[in-house]
Amino acid sequence: MSAIIFNLFSCEALVKKIASGIVAEVGDVTIRNFPDAETYLKINSFVKNREVILLTSLDYPNEKILPLLFAAKNLKDMGAKRVGLIAPYLAYMRQDKVFNIGEAIGAKYFAELLSNYFDWLITIDPHLHRISDLNGIFSIPTKVLSSGKIIAGWIKNQVKHPVIIVPDTEGDQWIADIAKTIDAPFVVVKKIRKGDVEVELSIPDLKNYKNRTPVIVDDIISTGVTMIETVKRIKELNMIAPICIGIHAVFAGNAYKNLLGVGVNKILTCNTISHVSNEIDLSGLIIDFLNDGFL
Ligand code: R5P
Repeated sequence: MSAIIFNLFSCEALVKKIASGIVAEVGDVTIRNFPDAETYLKINSFVKNREVILLTSLDYPNEKILPLLFAAKNLKDMGAKRVGLIAPYLAYMRQDKVFNIGEAIGAKYFAELLSNYFDWLITIDPHLHRISDLNGIFSIPTKVLSSGKIIAGWIKNQVKHPVIIVPDTEGDQWIADIAKTIDAPFVVVKKIRKGDVEVELSIPDLKNYKNRTPVIVDDIISTGVTMIETVKRIKELNMIAPICIGIHAVFAGNAYKNLLGVGVNKILTCNTISHVSNEIDLSGLIIDFLNDGFL
């Protein structure tokens, strides 16, 4: 029997594309809150002895995690052969060490929790920094897919003379790869984070790139301060208004509006989190991997 894939929270379009690409059924699940905000969850599809996939982006994870774990456990209890998780955006990856005594290592604890309920995990460009490999924190098989080539393709097709700007030393390598693929110059903006919504940037010399279109690329746009400050500093240099590319459109609070407000050329993101700025479709990455003998 074919695999079955469930959309848990607002990833309907992505789930439909993947289901059609791997020839799987789209599962039916009811999730609602009881009046006291406890979770009611019911699987309405036949899952016994089947490969089951749950797909959800894990932005705003706290409100999703319990229904997600209930679903995984319920599917196992109903006889699913394996229950895998596709989390195009994997949360809690930035608190990856104890910076100050007493802090919880969210990345590790979150990974342990998911590992207890799922048989495997697929994600796209997780924020791997001090933890260099998901296998270091997950005890289930994991697969990391990379959006780099697809983003590079978008830039190549849409921007005539780009200069790629990465506002964070943590992102150097994958963005260097993007720049190399399209033969564009790339520069790194050094960033020191002073707090949740405060960053200090040091911009390198950009005078050789005055006639190029700045393309700022970052993995996550959360509060937007990293992008906003980078845009502001680039505009002070009288360069062309920049294009901002984020893989994961977290956009906490008013981040999207605030970023639009600083006069960018364009903001675009990948469809790892459903958002109005989604312009780069990564469903093919997931489909190709699943069709390549994984299921
Ligand atoms: C940081 O390590 C990431 O690569 C992003 O630069 C960061 O998450 C962006 O966050 P924010 O939008 O809150 O500045």
